Amino acid sequence: KKQEPLRVMISGAPASGKGTQCELITKKYDLVHIAAGDLLRAEIAAGTENGRRAKEYMDKGQLVPNEIVVTMVKERLMRPDSQEKGWLLDGYPRSLSQAVALKEFQPDLFILLEVPEEILVERVVGRRLDPVTGRIYHLKYSPPETDEIAARLTQRFDDTEEKVKLRLLTHRQNVESVLSMYKDTIFQVDGSVSKEEVFAQIDGALTQLLEAKE
Ligand code: AP5
Repeated sequence: KKQEPLRVMISGAPASGKGTQCELITKKYDLVHIAAGDLLRAEIAAGTENGRRAKEYMDKGQLVPNEIVVTMVKERLMRPDSQEKGWLLDGYPRSLSQAVALKEFQPDLFILLEVPEEILVERVVGRRLDPVTGRIYHLKYSPPETDEIAARLTQRFDDTEEKVKLRLLTHRQNVESVLSMYKDTIFQVDGSVSKEEVFAQIDGALTQLLEAKE
């Protein structure tokens, strides 16, 4: 008999490691990764009107208005692949109103990555992205495997010390109200250790969940 798919949300401050853990989780559990920030950057890259508007807010480290974000995320969650394989929602909801707008999509697990703020700035400033594979690197903690990859790495437009401080402020203003919506499913993870050690904590919880669903 076919098992019910996993539904997971992952949250945490900017650069707490959400995207990095999502790479590891999807590799093992084959969930559909839906990242609000990635969807917005795709709109910017495509030059749409929503992308143009979104960038104004992202440049200031503020939340993009719900009328852009909510429909975009819901539409992705409702597609057949997300419904069949299960989903991993990254960077959404970021406010109480976003959580309310999504109340028909309740997670089995709400992962919260906890990382002290001193570490976050260093993670942001050293982050690099591979435009070919979409993989996330860090100059010090996850350096590229080859010179060829190193030569093509790019940086995100909002990855400066100044902008990450604004993003952190927005995060601090909203996090408590979001957590209050997921009290029963919150799984707190120490995100300050190596990415493999962070994944080991998450992997343990997801394995247990799957066993419970069987
Ligand atoms: P978004 O793209 O979601 O950015 P963010 O929340 O600031 O998170 P990041 O992507 O910066 O970090 P991450 O936690 O994924 O960390 P990563 O794994 O890359 O949002 C951007 C903007 O879009 C927002 O500011 C907002 O304007 C808008 N937006 C997005 N969602 C929205 C919503 N729902 N509503 C409204 N607006 C929205 O790791 C960071 C670095 O650290 C990497 O270099 C990585 O290699 C390294 N690293 C990771 N783990 C470890 C580890 N364990 N040890 C050492 N290094 C590590």
